[in-house]
Amino acid sequence: MRNKIVAANWKMNLDHKDGINILQEVSDKLQFKTNAKVIIATSYIHLHEAISLKNLNSQINIAAQNCSAYDSGAHTSEISAKMINSCGVKYVILGHSECRDHLHEDNYLLMQKVSQALSNNLHIIFCCGETLLQREKKIHFKHIQKQLEESLFHLSSEYMSKIYIAYEPIWAIGTGVTASSGQAQEMHKYIRSLFSKKYGDICSESIPILYGGSCNSANASELFSQPDIDGGLIGGASLKADSFISIIKSF
Ligand code: PGA
Repeated sequence: MRNKIVAANWKMNLDHKDGINILQEVSDKLQFKTNAKVIIATSYIHLHEAISLKNLNSQINIAAQNCSAYDSGAHTSEISAKMINSCGVKYVILGHSECRDHLHEDNYLLMQKVSQALSNNLHIIFCCGETLLQREKKIHFKHIQKQLEESLFHLSSEYMSKIYIAYEPIWAIGTGVTASSGQAQEMHKYIRSLFSKKYGDICSESIPILYGGSCNSANASELFSQPDIDGGLIGGASLKADSFISIIKSF
């Protein structure tokens, strides 16, 4: 049985007080047993307090939204995987399309970040996704394959239990246009086949593959009911406790 996962990606939203308030509200409202692992990627300013909240619901896990490719040193503004781990945080998002685009993160840099995160004992939500143009040119499968091969496939299979994939078509992120459940399922199945070829069936059957891109409480059940969709990475709809909770209930 694969892990079901619902992960929030707050991006650059919520100041310190608002973030802690929403976290507390989600924590209070999560008074039911869910079979989904719940992960909340706050911004860096919240991480330490989020982890230290005395009454944080034990079903909630906290994630960082990125980490440096380096261990330490002259990298002004960056935060290392070691620092993240030192706060007690055990998860990190890597390869989000906004970081690939705005921060010019390429597959090679992401490979280094992946190694840093794993050597500091973090679980990784690794994002991949194509542009609309790539989909129209029908090169989206090749593109996703390259992203995964160049950033993840250097790993030996022992690390695979720490990797979660988030398929996030760029044309669906923050646009209100969701991939249809058929489009998402098709890509998730393809991604699973790549893991099967590289690491074998046991690994590919156990790796969680999340969908991200305008996933919300209205479309989550339909998406999550697909055989290869194991949950979601949720941006906009994670910024309100009630909508995030109703996505968690969508399995
Ligand atoms: P969205 O963002 O749900 O607002 O589309 C998802 C993401 O970028 O992770």
